[in-house]
Amino acid sequence: MQTAEAASVAKPVQSATRAETLAAMTRTGPDTVAGRYLRRFWHPVLLAQELPVGRALPVQALGEELTVYRGESGEAHAVAHRCAHRGAQLSVGTVEGETIRCLYHGWRYDAAGACTQRPAEPPSASRATIRIRSYPLVEYLGLLFVFLGEGDPPARPHFPELERAGVLESSSYLRHCNYFQNLENGVDEAHLPFVHRQTLFDVLNYAVPEISARETPYGLVQTARRPDGRVNEAHCLMPNMLTFVYPASDDPAVQGWTRYLSWRVPVDDHTHKTFILEHFDVCPDSEASFRGRRAQRREQIAALPARSEVASGILAGKARLQDYADRPDYLLLGDDVAQRAQGVVQDRSVERLGRSDAAVLLLRRIWARELAAMESRSEPTAWECRIPLSRTSES
Ligand code: FES
Ligand SMILES: [Fe+2]
Repeated sequence: MQTAEAASVAKPVQSATRAETLAAMTRTGPDTVAGRYLRRFWHPVLLAQELPVGRALPVQALGEELTVYRGESGEAHAVAHRCAHRGAQLSVGTVEGETIRCLYHGWRYDAAGACTQRPAEPPSASRATIRIRSYPLVEYLGLLFVFLGEGDPPARPHFPELERAGVLESSSYLRHCNYFQNLENGVDEAHLPFVHRQTLFDVLNYAVPEISARETPYGLVQTARRPDGRVNEAHCLMPNMLTFVYPASDDPAVQGWTRYLSWRVPVDDHTHKTFILEHFDVCPDSEASFRGRRAQRREQIAALPARSEVASGILAGKARLQDYADRPDYLLLGDDVAQRAQGVVQDRSVERLGRSDAAVLLLRRIWARELAAMESRSEPTAWECRIPLSRTSES
């Protein structure tokens, strides 16, 4: 199966070997084909709560550095990482109204990147052509989305399912491996009974599933069938999003299953951030107590040794994953260890795929096709950006 599937992956990108095609998906800088492809979409780069009014932060996404700041009106803006004068990092400057002033010699820029003041220059000096790059930015559902591409951005992110009553939480984590490993992981349910024992996912772990996959107008759906006929689905929304529902039975206030939506956003080619939205069905009466328990859980996790450090220790042989089964973030720790255990950037030229990798193969085949379109300057697929209905073992 591997050979036939591999051949179908290799064909689309012109004159590339299979290994080169797969490696191309992992490189996302501005001058790479995958980087240009990803730059056609909005990507979250910060949680809204991480950026108070009047603050500026340095951000790195897709190998590109930028400055994100929140003006005094409360609106957030994104401009270049460095000042046009002598290259100081703008995030250490000060926010004034909707502008940002460089720390070093006080040059001031508006949200569109135009230099509006150079205090040490004579008033006669022309600043007409001085401009730094600015990026379209949208704040939505507790996330700050930036468009890093050229030209007009696509339609703003819009997910009505996450705007309905209930509790919506946004969170993020950093993982020290290439983003594509985590993207593949999201449509690889065969890992659940091994990586995620003793977690919420145990409701699905009574049997190893059989995996199948199919392309859809938004990307692909991975279907996992258990021997008793029950199915569970996970969806990849092209190019780098994952959505599914999961059992949230560890909190009594949550009714039914929880909707999960995430983005795998490369920081650079060795590190990525996942931005997560979780919608919990909680009735208004239980909302305050539920939020309190969630805050407590976050504090508990924050007081523990950092998850990535723990994962590093496990990878170095100093401990075992199961030694940390009582951590509230044990589920994420399992993924951290498993994905980093593939290497920082998995060498896909030496892998041996099987039937259970059907969704991973389909994801790569779609990606290869889209990158081939980018290279041949034809139009890539116009994906629908919407949350599909999910079949789960609950239904
Ligand atoms: S380096 Fe920014 S004002 Fe001089
Ligand atoms: Fe996982």
